[in-house]
Amino acid sequence: MSDKMSFIDETLNELRASGLYNEIKIIGSPQGAWLNIDGHRVLNMCSNNYLGLANNPELRQAAVKAIDEFGVGPAAVRSIAGTMSLHEQLDRKVAEFKRVEAALTLQSGFMANCAVIPALVSKGDTIVSDALNHASIIDGSRLSRAQIKVYEHNNMDSLEAVLKEDNSGRVLVITDGVFSMDGDIAPLPAIVELAQRYGAMTMVDDAHGEGVLGESGRGIVDHFHLHGKVDVEVGTFSKAIGTIGGFAAGSSRLIEYLKQKARPFLFSSALTPPDVAATYRAIELLMESGELVERLWENGRYFKSAMQELGFDIGLSETPITPVMLGEADVAGEMSRQLLKRGVFATKIGFPTVPKGKARIRVMISASHSREDLDFGIAQFAAVGREMGIIR
Ligand SMILES: Cc1ncc(COP(=O)(O)O)c(C=O)c1O
Repeated sequence: MSDKMSFIDETLNELRASGLYNEIKIIGSPQGAWLNIDGHRVLNMCSNNYLGLANNPELRQAAVKAIDEFGVGPAAVRSIAGTMSLHEQLDRKVAEFKRVEAALTLQSGFMANCAVIPALVSKGDTIVSDALNHASIIDGSRLSRAQIKVYEHNNMDSLEAVLKEDNSGRVLVITDGVFSMDGDIAPLPAIVELAQRYGAMTMVDDAHGEGVLGESGRGIVDHFHLHGKVDVEVGTFSKAIGTIGGFAAGSSRLIEYLKQKARPFLFSSALTPPDVAATYRAIELLMESGELVERLWENGRYFKSAMQELGFDIGLSETPITPVMLGEADVAGEMSRQLLKRGVFATKIGFPTVPKGKARIRVMISASHSREDLDFGIAQFAAVGREMGIIR
């Protein structure tokens, strides 16, 4: 009898042969500048903990207090019995932070895209999407059943050419704010201007802009002073905020509408009380001081200039995200393994996360890195880069 599931082995073997197999490391410590992997202390250069908040004592305390007062589970979807006073407070706090009328917290950034996009457009409508948009935007767009048109990455001529076409129904332009694999920033003022001219709605996914861009990390809309001009902001708490969860932010009528129409809000349970309370405290900390954001940028500038001086190709990043461009996935995989042997955890990123032939190690700088940490990381990159003939 034939094995109906043999495609699984074939696919796994192909992934191993092409260097694209994901080897998942198990971490035995909290997230921070240093981690424990397989009993070894290693420098963490690949998590999204931009501001070092994932193990912040004040967030931990807030989470413990919430468990004492509200328990550990939400026990329902938010629209049935899962909205606690904590969730309402967080919705309001996010709106205040993002300087919008209202916000709605969801279970993750991925879920936020799957919630918002199909609520705004459906069959007969048109999505206009940047070629490098995140997988969750792509999946949210596919779920909507609207036709999807892709414009060249950050290319406004290409965007205009698509907007000029005879597009059916409602038109929604979607872009990442900061592109997570390259660290470049969407030209949002031009996108908003073009969308307005052609009567399209605008949506930005600010997952890597929150905690990084704008005053105290308020994100890309604040960075470009575009308040009130972007129809929907989607975001996540899983990066700079240090916790878990996602959100949509915008006008009061948009949020009221999403509470009636967004399926992940209506059919998937709410965030847990400790998640919500820790997130609330993280946003308060950001609103109290921009110091962590400044330290993140300082660290990013220091690391990037050292890597460039060494001769590494670090792409076109405009943010602390530092892609070390290596081309083939097996080269990136080998570099990652050699770095780990030397005490640096920096994972390879290959297809389908980035296009084929554009594999890299994406270094994620954090405010929690000290100058000594960065110097250690730079020295190991230099040694491995020379051993592998990537730099001289
Ligand atoms: C642009 C973008 N949107 C959404 C997500 C998903 O966020 P979350 O981890 O909260 O699901 C990510 C995370 O990788 C992202 O980079």
